[in-house]
Amino acid sequence: MSHLPYEYAESLRIGTVEFVSPDEIKVSLDIEAPESMALNVGVPRPFPRVNSYVLIPVDDAYLVGQIEWITVERSAFPKRQGMQDFGLIDLPFPLRKMSLNPLGTLRNTSSKPIENSTFSFRRGADALPSIGNAVLLPTEDQLRSIVESGARRRVKIGTSPLASNAEVCIDPDRLFGRHLAILGNTGSGKSCSVAGLIRWSIEQAHTEGGTVPNARFVVLDPNGEYSRAFEDAKPPLKAKLFQVDPAAGTASKALHIPLWFWNSSEWSSFTQASSRTQRPVLIHALRSVRDGHVETATDPSHERRRFLRTIVTTLTLEKNAGVPWGTYPKPKTFLEKLRKWRGTLHEDLNGCVGAQQTALAALVDQMDELSNARSAQYAHLDFTREEVEQLIALASTAHSAFGGSATDSEPFDVDAPLPFLGDSFLRSVEASAEMLNVAEHAETLLIRIRSLLNSTVIRSIMSDAPGVTLQEWLEEYVGSENLEAGCVSVLDLSLVPTEVIHVITAVVARMIFESLQRYRRIKGSVLPTVLVMEEAHTFIKRYKTDGESYDAASVCCQVFERIAREGRKFGLGLVLSSQRPSELSPTVLSQCNSFLLHRISNDQDQKLVHSLVPDNLKGLLRELPSLPSQHAILLGWASELPLLVRMNDLPREQQPKSEDPDFWNVWTGKDETGAKVVRPAKWGDVCSQWQHATEELIASEDDQDIPF
Ligand SMILES: Nc1ncnc2c1ncn2[C@@H]1O[C@H](COP(=O)(O)OP(=O)(O)OP(=O)(O)O)[C@@H](O)[C@H]1O
Ligand SMILES: [Mg+2]
Repeated sequence: MSHLPYEYAESLRIGTVEFVSPDEIKVSLDIEAPESMALNVGVPRPFPRVNSYVLIPVDDAYLVGQIEWITVERSAFPKRQGMQDFGLIDLPFPLRKMSLNPLGTLRNTSSKPIENSTFSFRRGADALPSIGNAVLLPTEDQLRSIVESGARRRVKIGTSPLASNAEVCIDPDRLFGRHLAILGNTGSGKSCSVAGLIRWSIEQAHTEGGTVPNARFVVLDPNGEYSRAFEDAKPPLKAKLFQVDPAAGTASKALHIPLWFWNSSEWSSFTQASSRTQRPVLIHALRSVRDGHVETATDPSHERRRFLRTIVTTLTLEKNAGVPWGTYPKPKTFLEKLRKWRGTLHEDLNGCVGAQQTALAALVDQMDELSNARSAQYAHLDFTREEVEQLIALASTAHSAFGGSATDSEPFDVDAPLPFLGDSFLRSVEASAEMLNVAEHAETLLIRIRSLLNSTVIRSIMSDAPGVTLQEWLEEYVGSENLEAGCVSVLDLSLVPTEVIHVITAVVARMIFESLQRYRRIKGSVLPTVLVMEEAHTFIKRYKTDGESYDAASVCCQVFERIAREGRKFGLGLVLSSQRPSELSPTVLSQCNSFLLHRISNDQDQKLVHSLVPDNLKGLLRELPSLPSQHAILLGWASELPLLVRMNDLPREQQPKSEDPDFWNVWTGKDETGAKVVRPAKWGDVCSQWQHATEELIASEDDQDIPF
């Protein structure tokens, strides 16, 4: 075609602007405008089509509009050209109208004739058209320039069916850097998109870098789907797979999250510890067990030093909280605690000599004095600040006499991941409850911890059997210096018992986050890592914000909320995939800057998704209920403009394992090709695996006498 620019524009003209507002432009289509297929743009293209693009020349550029709706209006008169026949009665005539969303500006960047020129697209409209402006169909090149706009298009993820299958590429810095939410109904293709995004990004980085990329993807996989998706023969896409009770002969390793990774709020949520009495016991127990004191408790002077240190810490904490002069019964429990300590210390007196005995005796005497003053029948139990301070001073002196230093008694970070064994922890909880004088309230706590330690499956996940260090764990699960080990870790959580699954997920997510946080503090730069959470609605579920929430699900959600809020600064990107967006935590969703939206038909979920995008982009979202699988709308920070994408094809063997059950083929005993389908309901193997897996675990523990 060789046209003058004006003639060329005329051949693509489809209508006229007849209403302009900053967020909507209405166009009346010419009678000659194509009815279903435009043939004048080089290749046949469906037109008019909702959500496709049209151009309006304004000044020296084009305003790009996205079609929001198309309608027919009965007009009294056809829009006739030329002379009017005044003698004739006009019949109502259908006139097509459409409404456009102004999206951005397309500029001609070369001075060549229009059919050979190049274009650049930018979001935002510089100037709005006026009534009477022509509306044009974009050429192939123009369409491509719209969709393929934006710098640093690094990884191709699919094509855009609304724009002549132009390539849709993303910049991983943008897509993963500010969290991505992949939302859609079941079977709409979320898991395939997750697997694809990881795969295509790594493959592209491999091609460009020439070596195995220094990338880290940790996939938390509650359904056990992803084992198959990254089963390539060699790096970079050979994933490290971790499973509960992995079958013999497979490449997967046993999932192992040591119990000493858990912090105090994770322990509290698991044990449902009451905040008044049981939480202080737990915290105290964790502090001592992490400090290693329970192990060395055989040395009596060491034991005394620890006891005195606890007295100093507890007294200081209670003084700061105002307990000794608080409202009744606070001073009473304080007094009871003093009496109990006094009993223990008095017994210790016999075994000591010299300065140690003197210091201890002074403390015991002071305790006696305080308690005797309050033993009359209706005595006032309140303590004065001076009395408590004096007691602290005496306890500190005794503590130093036994070799303790002042810094010793400073609160120690209870949540530092220092190794300990489950049995020591149990002993420590018992001792702490005794010491804090709440033994009778700690019974349920102990029952919960014992039941945890006694469950065989949980033991296999949490025991300290392999004796891994923190460094080894991070190298295994997050990624090591040796890039050949692979870029993807898949943690199959499908067989993790339900009572611990939330805590385990929270622990893994928090460990990854905190390790990256420390990495940046020490090294000064971030280690980019992506954490993928499948079935996010179970783990990042919105919870009631009234009061303190210590149940496991909210503790888990809070970890992800923290990652969503702060992860970006430490190079941790979150990818979450969910079929129930309306159940997700609003904090996490509002921190996601990119969205890949698959088919969503549920009303509530649609409303939620609508609330996430600005008003003028809502048009595209109306297509959500009717999207075929593998199609999705990409919007947000990762994409210059909201785009309908047909994701790249993922070959069957690279798809996550989540096919629909094949009822018909099993019923009829053959598949589409006529091949036989044999699937007898034989339970023998299942039962023996089910029952013996547990027995095997017990047997292997007996053999090796696993420390736990
Ligand atoms: N990119 C793709 N390439 C090839 N097939 C795809 C692609 N995306 C989706 N599919 C097809 O759609 C089916 C369902 O996809 P997928 O398992 O990813 O859905 P889902 O949204 O994760 O579902 P659920 O919520 O139940 O986990 C797949 O089995 C596959 O056949
Ligand atoms: Mg899925």
